[in-house]
Amino acid sequence: MCGIVGYIGERDATPLILGGLKKLEYRGYDSAGLAVLKNGQIEVRRNAGKLVNLEMNVCEQPISGTLGIGHTRWATHGEPSARNAHPHLSGSGEVVVVHNGIVENFIELKEELVTEGVVFQSDTDTETIVHLIEKFLSVTGDLESAARKALGQLKGAHGIVVFTSREPDKIIAARIGNAGGVVIGLGEGENFIASDIPAILEHTRKLIFLESRQMAVVTREDVHISTIEGTVIHPQVSSVAWDPVSAEKGEYRHFMQKEIHEQVRSLTDTLAGRVNFKEGTIRLPQLNLTVEKAKEVEKIVLTACGTASHAGMVGRILIERIAGIPAAMEIASEFRYSDPIVNDKTILIAISQSGETADTLAAMEEGRRKGATIWSIVNAIGSQAMRVADGSISMQTGPEIGVASTKAFTAPLVDLYMLAILLADLRGDLSVQERKKLVEDLRLIPELAGRCLDREGEVEETAYLLRESKDMLYLGRGINMPIAYEGALKLKEISYIHAEAYPAGEMKHGPIALIDENMPVVAIAIKDPWYEKMISQIEQAKARGGIVVAVATEGDERVAALVDRVLWVPEAPWMLSPVLTSIPLQMLAYHIATMRGLDVDQPRNLAKSVTVE
Ligand code: G6P
Repeated sequence: MCGIVGYIGERDATPLILGGLKKLEYRGYDSAGLAVLKNGQIEVRRNAGKLVNLEMNVCEQPISGTLGIGHTRWATHGEPSARNAHPHLSGSGEVVVVHNGIVENFIELKEELVTEGVVFQSDTDTETIVHLIEKFLSVTGDLESAARKALGQLKGAHGIVVFTSREPDKIIAARIGNAGGVVIGLGEGENFIASDIPAILEHTRKLIFLESRQMAVVTREDVHISTIEGTVIHPQVSSVAWDPVSAEKGEYRHFMQKEIHEQVRSLTDTLAGRVNFKEGTIRLPQLNLTVEKAKEVEKIVLTACGTASHAGMVGRILIERIAGIPAAMEIASEFRYSDPIVNDKTILIAISQSGETADTLAAMEEGRRKGATIWSIVNAIGSQAMRVADGSISMQTGPEIGVASTKAFTAPLVDLYMLAILLADLRGDLSVQERKKLVEDLRLIPELAGRCLDREGEVEETAYLLRESKDMLYLGRGINMPIAYEGALKLKEISYIHAEAYPAGEMKHGPIALIDENMPVVAIAIKDPWYEKMISQIEQAKARGGIVVAVATEGDERVAALVDRVLWVPEAPWMLSPVLTSIPLQMLAYHIATMRGLDVDQPRNLAKSVTVE
């Protein structure tokens, strides 16, 4: 599950490789690296963690050259770390390799190489390949035959890309078996190599796909294909008509599933450059927020439609709790007809994935007409809601294709939390300790989101039990009440099951009449300030024969003993808990819908962006 990109041409290879790796990041998350030929020397940058770490490294210590290779890794042999990240250099520093696959006989090969005096720098199986090639290079004197000899010794399936500073005019790529593809992209005076098409699709659509046991010698002007054994091949050049975005579904069945899984990355990107954990500060420069402005605000109105409105409901609580500013969440389609009490002491914050939703844009206009400052939290860069606002926060989630919004729901929850801290800080309402604590609480959020995603199998089992439901009831309280709304909306949108959400305390005022064994109840009962109340509401539902599925904090035996199924989330500070509780509910809706055989990416009657009233 690794991603590979290579480039040879006249342009700077570094941004092209980083851009390509970004498109492949879903293939591997634990480390990344690149190698570029600069003034006849191979320079390597490698980082553990997400691609953003490598990007920052390259920013701090730039490298450029017109030939290079890059890799995102998903560890098999050797822990995820910078030293195990690819590319791997030979002992002389003259040969460099990236690799997809597992060298099944690496222990024997390594032992042999070690006996011959080779010193290994990593724990990876891949490193044997680069040492083997270097060994044969000293015998054959040319990279192509050295690569052939080395490849002939490898067991297992592989995609391999290699170059040497001794022959600075070529990259060699090879494929053996099915460890992912190797594709060569043909350009004018430049050529590309990748494990997957999306990495290079914005540069070329003319592609050669290597078959198993084929090898490509790629120069700026030419590509020569042969078998590993040396028979010349005249390959077919394919012209791919896919647009770059639709080509990126990768190994996932649906964009929605891919986007649910992208949340670790999107939450990491949401924090990157905005949070300084050392100093405990937040930066949101695109808001143009001054101390004077923060101090004069008397009211904040959040406005949005659909899923974004549920983010706004959470945002209202965060702004009131953290910044102490009265806040309201107004559905955009209602706001402009409600003669809202808004003036120049109001900030209106529009939240929109697309930035093009007609009702949201109209609400922004209405706020503007009444003299409010207009901000937007938007995913689509350059969209109307971003352009017409006085200030904006750009969601760092990347394109969201699935109609049911997922990653563009959790990112604004974090944006609003950061915004509330910034407002409170500028108004002088937070002590340094309070601010640092709130900021520090953000640190683990991407990782905790990853732990929710790791439980997809358990969620799937619960989905199986609920897949034939006709109606479902979602309950939550406090900051997780909007998540009950969002969970119910996800289910309605893609599974067409009728779902209602209620503030749990309201259940006794009506909805409790609906509860029987045919009406499953999903209750968000994590260890937050509303926990005890949620427990008693679950008891009421159980007493009426209801089937209860709880979203609960890992290790909470009390909830587990009370309900029929549990969707576990890790413990987190309560103000950030909606980021986590929403994830199992996204997966639940997704799996129920797919089990019902439905098209989750394009549910009936819905559109991703509604540009009509
Ligand atoms: C449509 C989509 C929803 C989305 C809503 C708001 O109804 O189907 O998933 O939440 O629009 O879209 P926006 O782009 O403004 O966030």
